[in-house]
Amino acid sequence: MTTATAQAHPNIAFIKYWGDLDPCLRIPSNGSLSMNLAGLETRTRVSFDVLLQGDHVTVNGQVMGGAGLERVSALLDRVREMACMRPFARVESENNFPMGAGIASSASAFAALALAASSAAGLSMSEQQLSRLARSGSGSACRSVPGGFVEWQAGQTDEESYAFSIAPAGHWDLVDCIVVVSQVHKPVGSTEGHALALTSPLQSARVADALRRLDLCRRAVCERDFEAFADIVELDSNLMHAVMITSTPPLLYWQPATVAVMRAVQDWRNGGLPVCYTIDAGPNVHILCPGEQADEVEERLQSIEGVQQVLMARPGGPAKLV
Ligand code: PMV
Repeated sequence: MTTATAQAHPNIAFIKYWGDLDPCLRIPSNGSLSMNLAGLETRTRVSFDVLLQGDHVTVNGQVMGGAGLERVSALLDRVREMACMRPFARVESENNFPMGAGIASSASAFAALALAASSAAGLSMSEQQLSRLARSGSGSACRSVPGGFVEWQAGQTDEESYAFSIAPAGHWDLVDCIVVVSQVHKPVGSTEGHALALTSPLQSARVADALRRLDLCRRAVCERDFEAFADIVELDSNLMHAVMITSTPPLLYWQPATVAVMRAVQDWRNGGLPVCYTIDAGPNVHILCPGEQADEVEERLQSIEGVQQVLMARPGGPAKLV
């Protein structure tokens, strides 16, 4: 029996991945950029065991079956193929952050799984290879393999589509205040959502302008220019949600409290507070601000009606073996 344990952080995208060029390989329609979230993590132990009759997966102690298990087994199959081995695996995964809090656990889950499984199989993979392997489980997971501020170059083939760090975690003290307004499980997940993107007449315009936004965002991060960063991050999030709302069937993830938070953040910024929002495929809102403003922003967020919880995360490191 060979065993390895790995840990990875979820990430928040500043420039979003929405829609695939190749849904099977999860090659995205556009490049994206994100920050890993320190303090929040998935820890995954993988043991290949000749006595197992099939892959056995638990997440926070609950046995996983169905489509979730198939997705994990598909990644394990790739590892078995690369390592020329046959045994099934026991996978035990734990998240230290609340499920349903609007933090995509699939990114940290597949990044930790890629590292633990490849290592347990005796493979020594480069960061680039690991990022590609994680991508096959969940697109955004490729961005949780490298550390800090991370760009996913879209590419057109499996070999070309991977993520790399553009700055380490210590580069910029940026804080993500994760505002939970609903814990209800989202009705349409991102895999289904990506498939709907092209039904929106706005998706082609969003994708056509993506490289420009990616360049602006990369520059803003590298120069720690919060004003430029805030403008491009909100525009990119709004564009993704415009595509979602105009897809067939439409995906409207926002709740009234989502909009209340968006409005408040815009008012605060107009009043001189450096702060901006971004929203993934769910109702909860990620509020970004420089570290010096984090306490003030948290206090203001707590006073908005409908806000259930605020979690704070600073830039996090790469996926690692533990
Ligand atoms: O990696 P997926 O298939 O869960 O897609 C992630 C989609 C968004 O979170 C909405 C955007 C992103 O780039 O993380």
